[in-house]
Amino acid sequence: MSLSTKPLSGMRQRLPGEFRIEKFVTETLCLSSVRAGFEEYDGPVIEPLGLFAAKSGSELVGRQSYCFKDRGGREVILRPEMTPSLARMVAAQGELQLPVRWFSTPLCYRYERPQRGRVREFLQFNLDILGSENLAAELEVILVLQGIMKSFKAPSSIYRIGWSSRRFMSDALARCGVTKELTGGVFSAIDKRDKMKADAWADFLLGACGGNSVVARQVISLVSVEFLSDPWLMDLMSGSSAFQEVVEFNELLQGVGIPSAVFSPGVVRGLDYYTGIVFELMDTGGENNRSLCGGGRYDNLVGLFGNKKISGVGFGLGVLTLTLFLETYKLIPDSVREAAPADVYIAVASSDATAAAGLLAASIRDEGIRVMMDVSGKKLGKQFSEASRYGIPFVVTVGPDEVETGEYKMKNLSDGKIFTGSLAEITGRLK
Ligand code: HAM
Repeated sequence: MSLSTKPLSGMRQRLPGEFRIEKFVTETLCLSSVRAGFEEYDGPVIEPLGLFAAKSGSELVGRQSYCFKDRGGREVILRPEMTPSLARMVAAQGELQLPVRWFSTPLCYRYERPQRGRVREFLQFNLDILGSENLAAELEVILVLQGIMKSFKAPSSIYRIGWSSRRFMSDALARCGVTKELTGGVFSAIDKRDKMKADAWADFLLGACGGNSVVARQVISLVSVEFLSDPWLMDLMSGSSAFQEVVEFNELLQGVGIPSAVFSPGVVRGLDYYTGIVFELMDTGGENNRSLCGGGRYDNLVGLFGNKKISGVGFGLGVLTLTLFLETYKLIPDSVREAAPADVYIAVASSDATAAAGLLAASIRDEGIRVMMDVSGKKLGKQFSEASRYGIPFVVTVGPDEVETGEYKMKNLSDGKIFTGSLAEITGRLK
């Protein structure tokens, strides 16, 4: 029986054309972060299970994780996300100058049902600020997110950054009649709202509210609110400091003018560690219905590693989900999609010219020019076709005559013109 040519379901493999697009996406993310003063870091792919069990949430760790015992009998996990590792890394630094502004693009693993925008092995761009309790930190990460979308030339009409606050929602749910014991379940029910049919979700929420239909109706009213100035909401939240914080953050957003940011009490985020402002970036069109990005403030993660209380705020952005979004709106430039792997192709006219061709290729490469040398040994015509298939614009032919005279012919494949010259002249021309 022959082996399957398919990877495991949901695992990531990239052919060069796909890889080129992914690189364009990750490099643009990196550039936008560096432009805002963020520094890159990395962490281990395999982590102790306990690191995630503590705070990431039962769904992520209990149902979606790749965990196993290593050969030393330790319970380990392939990281499903980066934030707990980041918190540990920050907690371990003695004299770290706070706040830190760090970014990373780790490979993460979640045993989810593979579907559009969701796979089991994925790159997740992370950007976080740790050590600032100021709402300016939330504003800054959302500004960087907006800068990222701008750098991909995505107009603000095609995406939406829905935001709310966990602190505000905890208070609001209590005022709606949700008891402390039921709050966690109601949060996860709210988080599932966009992933379920309306009727099924209403039943699910009713269950989460302990079967109390009056409370469930209040919760539905709450998550349906569209404006902070909604009279019902203002009445419900009268005297609430958590509501005040939300109003203040809204003013900051308005002050900067971030048209895609919309107050959305239905955004609560599925991970347990969030404590303050939370947000998610969604496509406003119908094709990409899962979040592209999610994040928020987490006050208590770093504190798990000792008594240092360092608050963090940041987001994770799926490289695959973002790429699908960019594809949907035709925002991947043709120059990336069709980029040639080399600037010039060295065609070898006969095998006795191979060493000379190799020498020529190496010399031109030394000048920083990308050179692909023929390794097929096929006829010259076929070598020219190969160069053209790759989209390489120039071909330099090397045969015994060229070796003897030191003069080479370089053909421009787009107009057929031929330039003849020495190695130095050819290189100068290519430059
Ligand atoms: P998250 O919402 O679980 O947050 O993931 C953030 C983003 O990662 C999602 O919006 C999605 O684009 C991408 N993503 C998640 N799961 C998958 C998957 N199975 N396949 C492809 N892409 C996926 C977090 O992970 C937080 N740790 C983010 C964060 C950083 N919060 C603060 N700092």
